[in-house]
Amino acid sequence: KSVDLHPTEPWMVASLYSGSVVVWNHETQVMVKTFEVCDLPVRVAKFVARKHWLIAGADDMQIRVFNYNTLERAHMFEAHSDYIRCIAVHPAQPYILTSSDDMLIKLWDWDRKWACSQVFEGHTHYVMQIVINPKDNNQFASASLDRTIKVWQLGSNTPNFTLEGHEKGVNCIDYYSGGDKPYLISGADDHLVKIWDYQNKTCVQTLEGHAQNVTCVSFHPELPIILTGSEDGTIRVWHSYTYRLENTLNYGMERAWCVCGQRGSNNVALGYDEGSIIIKLGREEPAMSMDSSGKIMWARHSEVQQANLKAMGEAEIKDGERLLLAVKDMGSCEIYPQMILHNPNGRFVVVCGDGEYIIYTAMALRNKSFGSAQEFVWAHDSSEYAIREGNSLVKIFKNFKEKKAFKPDFGAEGIYGGFLLGVKSPSGLAFYDWDNAELIRRIEIQPKHIFWSDSGELVCIATDECFFVLRYMAERVGAAQESKEAISEDGIEDAFEVLGEIQEVVKTGVWVGDCFIYTSSVNRLNYYVGGEIVTIAHLDRIMYLLGYIPKDNRLYLGDKELNIVSYSLLLSVLEYQTAVMRRDFSMADKVLPIIPKEHRTRVAHFLEKQGFRQQALAVSTDPEHRFELALQLGELNTAYQLALEAESEQKWKQLAELATAKCQFSLAQECLHQAQDYGGLLLLATASGNAAMVGKLAEGAERDGKTNVAFLTYFLQGKLDKCLDLLIKTNRLPEAAFLARTYLPSHVSRVVNLWKESLSKVNQRAADALADPTQYSNLFPGLQQALLAEQYLKETHVRVRPAAEYPLIMPNEDRSVLEECAGYAPKGEPVEPEVRTKRSHLNITGLSNKLLKMTL
Ligand SMILES: *[C@@H]1O[C@H](CO)[C@@H](O)[C@H](O)[C@H]1NC(C)=O
Ligand SMILES: *[C@@H]1O[C@H](CO)[C@@H](O)[C@H](O)[C@H]1NC(C)=O
Ligand SMILES: *[C@@H]1O[C@H](CO)[C@@H](O)[C@H](O)[C@H]1NC(C)=O
Ligand SMILES: *[C@@H]1O[C@H](CO)[C@@H](O)[C@H](O)[C@H]1NC(C)=O
Repeated sequence: KSVDLHPTEPWMVASLYSGSVVVWNHETQVMVKTFEVCDLPVRVAKFVARKHWLIAGADDMQIRVFNYNTLERAHMFEAHSDYIRCIAVHPAQPYILTSSDDMLIKLWDWDRKWACSQVFEGHTHYVMQIVINPKDNNQFASASLDRTIKVWQLGSNTPNFTLEGHEKGVNCIDYYSGGDKPYLISGADDHLVKIWDYQNKTCVQTLEGHAQNVTCVSFHPELPIILTGSEDGTIRVWHSYTYRLENTLNYGMERAWCVCGQRGSNNVALGYDEGSIIIKLGREEPAMSMDSSGKIMWARHSEVQQANLKAMGEAEIKDGERLLLAVKDMGSCEIYPQMILHNPNGRFVVVCGDGEYIIYTAMALRNKSFGSAQEFVWAHDSSEYAIREGNSLVKIFKNFKEKKAFKPDFGAEGIYGGFLLGVKSPSGLAFYDWDNAELIRRIEIQPKHIFWSDSGELVCIATDECFFVLRYMAERVGAAQESKEAISEDGIEDAFEVLGEIQEVVKTGVWVGDCFIYTSSVNRLNYYVGGEIVTIAHLDRIMYLLGYIPKDNRLYLGDKELNIVSYSLLLSVLEYQTAVMRRDFSMADKVLPIIPKEHRTRVAHFLEKQGFRQQALAVSTDPEHRFELALQLGELNTAYQLALEAESEQKWKQLAELATAKCQFSLAQECLHQAQDYGGLLLLATASGNAAMVGKLAEGAERDGKTNVAFLTYFLQGKLDKCLDLLIKTNRLPEAAFLARTYLPSHVSRVVNLWKESLSKVNQRAADALADPTQYSNLFPGLQQALLAEQYLKETHVRVRPAAEYPLIMPNEDRSVLEECAGYAPKGEPVEPEVRTKRSHLNITGLSNKLLKMTL
């Protein structure tokens, strides 16, 4: 029975004959709230956004007020003595007006506990609809089945005047909200729609066409459109200036009951017997165009305005920020502009709408030429343009004179300007020569937009799913036209070469050199260069590209509300990237110096992506990026310099790894030193059998407190005294005692005493339980032999043996030192035995602690 749109949320409320009221999210198509109001029809429900209310009027004569957030009923009262037909919410005051089959209109004040502050009496039949005048909120109009329309003033009990003319009951009424005309519109059971001038109180127009009772009428709040709905099941769309019927919408949902447009939006909600529909009316794209010097022209309704970027001065501009532009009125346009477009040199501007076009001078908006056309496109040459008439005829004009009219073979559903004239038909796209309208090439594609680069070499053809970038081979076309060879019915075979296909939907686009800049369906601002997509920005709303001003190095975009924003994009960077894509490095090198330093790294990343890492390394100014590249390229010297500058442990480690992989061991050693990577150094020293390095490492490690590495290094060198000292120093006394017991029995007593002393501080009994082997030799059998063996090993184990001797040496686990030293006398002639270092000492992959345990 009724629909209403929320002013800010994406909600539509529908009140139903069944007695319920439902709120739908029209973006997600999900029902968000339901209110079971009563068992009788609910003929009206309205949002009051400023109170978070939903107000419903039903056939039980009650008005109910719900809070749509909490879903609670805030108020309910009996408003009339018959069915309630309509509710009108005052835009500013705490008032609602209600109308009813009891022939009355009532005013309610919610700030005064919903007191009825006025009753408007005068109609002699049901009052079907009431509307408040948007230009004078104290005035409202009512439509009644008594065949009249009455206009009332708040505060006055009698109507100001009555409009008579319909021959049957009037169902619906609306005010025109534009400033220029004092109009009302009404629809009635006589199947007619009437437009009234309420100042001189005459009917200025009658719209005929509906085949049944007219149930709803609406002046669209933004577009020059009248919408009318009827029990014949159709919604009719009329032009509000010419009253021409533009369209008839029939969704097959039985009788239409209501239509609701919304200020600032293209959405219109329609309510039928069998459901509700939201439609979008008009072009989404704003009528807006920028010339190459930065003059932007747009239409606000039918007023044409201009803003000049140059007039902005030197103020700093941030990316994505709304620009504050001084706007100049250029005058109003005879047609309602749906599209505005400058010609390539910016001297003229065409305005299109309602099947008409007018070409104006851009400077003064003086009309130069006009005519009717379904579509208008400019050629690359500023003096030429083409128009489409109907679905079959295309006319080419030069200097405002018709040069050629032709009917493309498969019809003309759309035309595209630029270097060649594109014509779309159900069978695909055909490109024609502007000069003679000869077919150049037919392509099986259904284009949405076509964008030509300035040079005419490149063209982007965007479809509903993706876009293609093609190269136009002008020379081949010229040759073919000359020789009349290689021309089939589909034109010149090799006129185009496909360079790329990208699965992205282009909304608006512009070429800058060889770079194609575009906005995508997911609101990204991207550019395409040589197969590469670079994202410039993520946009927070739908924006339309206006153009690029090289002098500012900025891209300009506009939105539906005519806000202008900009993003910086350096021409030199684009030129450089273009040169790289063409593998033209001498050109690239020429451009490079003009790229500001802070942009070099971005360019370098681009080079790297293209596989030119060497060049990237040369261009990048970011030490991190350069180091990465140097590593990837194996450029040890560069990487070394960068690591020196960065003083980063991480970098030294990375470089050490690379140096090791490249067998640059002295560099690896330095890197490991710099990184203080003792584990790595130990690996390197032992793996290369470098005794001096092992020695140096041991001292360094101990100095730096890397005791595990220090211990292991001493141990490997057979410097057991040092090992023992290290354990004592680090307060590992039990371990020291066991080490002494195993390798240095002459130190056992000393260490055990240290241990006892230390232990006594925490546990005297445990300390007392420790036995010193020199005092309890009975508990330590073989101690004497061990002392002898120690002496023996000390004397025989002095020489550092080169790694090369390793295979000759018997593994420790196969030796029996006691047997070896049988017959050995200290300070006597030592017998040279096969002394071996423990093989497992070289296996240093495990932790030194683990190794120590093994040894013990
Ligand atoms: C309507 O009537 C009221 C009171 O009679 C008067 O003040 C007002 O000016 C009238 N308005 C119009 C538009 O006629
Ligand atoms: C009333 O005003 C309209 C313009 O809004 C005009 O077209 C019409 O002729 C006028 N009618 C009378 C009777 O003055
Ligand atoms: C149109 O309105 C008349 C009353 O004027 C009503 O009798 C008729 O049933 C309505 N038409 C339809 C199709 O409901
Ligand atoms: C063009 O301008 C002339 C003179 O200013 C004017 O008479 C005419 O109505 C205009 N035509 C269009 C279509 O704008």
